[in-house]
Amino acid sequence: MEKIIIEGGYELNGAVEVSGFKNAALPIIPASILAGERCVVENLPMIKDIFCISNIMSSIGADIELNENGTMVIDTSKITKIVAPYDLSRQIRASYYLLGAGLSRFKEVEVAYPGGCDIGTRPIDQHIKGFEALGAKVDIEHGVIKCRADKLVGTKIYLDVVSVGATINIMMAAVCAEGRTTIENAAKEPHVVDVANYLNSMGADVKGAGTDVIRIEGVEKLHGCTYSVIPDQIEAGTYLVAVAATGGDVLVKNVIPKHLESIIAKLRETSANIIEYDDSVRVISNGKLVGVNVKTLPYPGFPTDLQQPMAAILSIAEGSSVITESVFEARFKYIDELKRMGANIKVDGRVAIIEGVKELTGARVRATDLRAGVALVVAGLIAKGKTEIDDVFHIDRGYENIEQKLLGLGAKIYRVNR
Ligand code: EPZ
Repeated sequence: MEKIIIEGGYELNGAVEVSGFKNAALPIIPASILAGERCVVENLPMIKDIFCISNIMSSIGADIELNENGTMVIDTSKITKIVAPYDLSRQIRASYYLLGAGLSRFKEVEVAYPGGCDIGTRPIDQHIKGFEALGAKVDIEHGVIKCRADKLVGTKIYLDVVSVGATINIMMAAVCAEGRTTIENAAKEPHVVDVANYLNSMGADVKGAGTDVIRIEGVEKLHGCTYSVIPDQIEAGTYLVAVAATGGDVLVKNVIPKHLESIIAKLRETSANIIEYDDSVRVISNGKLVGVNVKTLPYPGFPTDLQQPMAAILSIAEGSSVITESVFEARFKYIDELKRMGANIKVDGRVAIIEGVKELTGARVRATDLRAGVALVVAGLIAKGKTEIDDVFHIDRGYENIEQKLLGLGAKIYRVNR
């Protein structure tokens, strides 16, 4: 079993390069099904979830070539039908993006019910509502989602909850539907925009992505293209958060600062000094933070994927902080692990109340999901002494070369297999 070991208490200094955005890449790869031709996708992060979606694509007949530099050549011309295998589909949430893409191209698709981080019930009713509104029949039988349509016809779809996954899936299903599809109350996240840009590069006509109304004019067919994925705002935010608490001076490179507005604003409130450049952000901190209140919200609000590292650093901030998780109902499982390290946090439903302590102390802890795992890495960096993190495969799902990147900044971090 692999573990990450951290000797905490060191400042971070230098520069770190952010990788491509996992949550944009995960739908972009299956969206290539729509081209039915060769696509080239660049700036992919080399992480487990990308290897997994790549295996799913191979299993349905796509030719995939993934280079070490993060470029994937995807040829979907030989796929004749999409029946995604259970063992692979259940490993990641993003397997459900085969539904929208497959429905659009083949009018028939089967994908085992998706897996993903255990952070709440995570229904897919809005995806299904969208597919049905476009004319598909959707059945869930024996753990498999089956969608079928004679034809897809554009329509108006109002999402009852702001959902990144449903917005992207419906966009993919609608690009070749007859006439116009309008998605109202759409998610505005940067990855929704990135997928829309990819679809448009393949010949689709998607307008309004990044606002809460997306309009899609159906086109006859799409074609191959070359596309580069945007930088990972959550990875970037993770490094900014970490440095704010360890203290130091770090330039986080290859970012779109606009995507980091909410996190930059919050970190400034904690008293960290943040300077924005065109495609990088510098954080300078003496590690002495003051408590702040954080409420997670859909973009442009504070991202739910960063509340965990934020909780880690607020545990040593002066005074009290309140974190309200309004996106997923069970995203505080890691708090018990932070408590092992000396954090003083009370959880009541979707609210965590943090009383800042003077210091955290290293302990043996366990990653319960991806962002929970990275919160423990951040806690380990600021804690006194040695932290040992078990179940690090969760972290490998979403962070490329995390130890190497942190080592480059002066952290004492390494991985052991025992
Ligand atoms: C995506 O999940 C991301 N996953 C998540 O990243 C991220 O936390 C989340 O968006 C929010 O930004 C991927 O991109 C693979 P949602 P997704 O649909 O699409 C409810 C990470 O750590 N909902 O926007 O599953 C849902 O239960 C992760 O990288 C419905 O009720 O999120 C949640 O409360 C984990 N019905 C809310 O909407 C639906 O049909 C937002 O979920 C769909 C969602």
